[in-house]
Amino acid sequence: MRIVLLGPPGAGKGSLASLYRERLGAPHLSTGQIFREEIARNSPLGQRVKAYVTSGRLVPNNLVVEVMAKRLSGRGGSSRGFVLDGFPRTRAQAAGLDRVLRRHRQPLDGAVYLTSPTSLLVRRLSGRRVCARCGENYHVRTMRPKHLGRCDRCNGRLTTRKDDRLETIRKRLSIDRKAAAPLLAYYRQKGLLFPVNGAGHVETVYKRTLGLFRRQDWVN
Ligand code: AP5
Repeated sequence: MRIVLLGPPGAGKGSLASLYRERLGAPHLSTGQIFREEIARNSPLGQRVKAYVTSGRLVPNNLVVEVMAKRLSGRGGSSRGFVLDGFPRTRAQAAGLDRVLRRHRQPLDGAVYLTSPTSLLVRRLSGRRVCARCGENYHVRTMRPKHLGRCDRCNGRLTTRKDDRLETIRKRLSIDRKAAAPLLAYYRQKGLLFPVNGAGHVETVYKRTLGLFRRQDWVN
């Protein structure tokens, strides 16, 4: 399956993509995770994107498309399918992704758009904890780890993301609202937009999306 997961910060894109990887074997690429790893390594790319990511602003389109074009072309490329999380985030990025996929002759199956009320997004983001080692997501109330402060997958230390401060959350949500309308219109026009209710427990949302994937014949 070749899909993009769309939705505002806190919609649950990363949490679901992690389940698709585990249970469906779908390769997961997250722009946010790629940028955070590059920042942690202090690489040239990390230095270029750090100010954007920590303050919640969008990284420039050209740079994001360049990074993702490389990732999609490297090691097996897009032939094994993919779940893209956090990309594209603007109409220009969506057009850039289409150009890359045309080169690989691997058209997109669909854009799955997770919807949720803003109050729920704020609650999710302000309670999020992430593994400092593997990036796995948790929540202080709704997705607790088995051992306090430790990742179930790799036993790494759980931390709070720098961009999950309340004022940065509000800024990210507002930036996302502006970019979302033209992005959604782009996929709607192509008949590729699949809205899914993203509210409810992560397992409930997982089942909703799995039903969609099966109806569309993207998975068995
Ligand atoms: P990125 O990491 O992509 O952040 P985001 O889009 O703001 O999305 P989040 O990771 O905050 O939310 P999510 O939808 O993945 O929710 P999650 O599953 O974690 O990007 C970070 C930054 O990088 C951007 O601000 C920007 O600067 C830059 N960037 C990245 N991509 C870019 C691009 N394409 N263009 C330009 N710049 C870019 O869930 C959130 C919390 O809720 C977790 O605690 C989770 O445990 C919990 N939760 C999730 N689902 C449920 C559920 N169903 N029930 C209960 N709890 C749940």
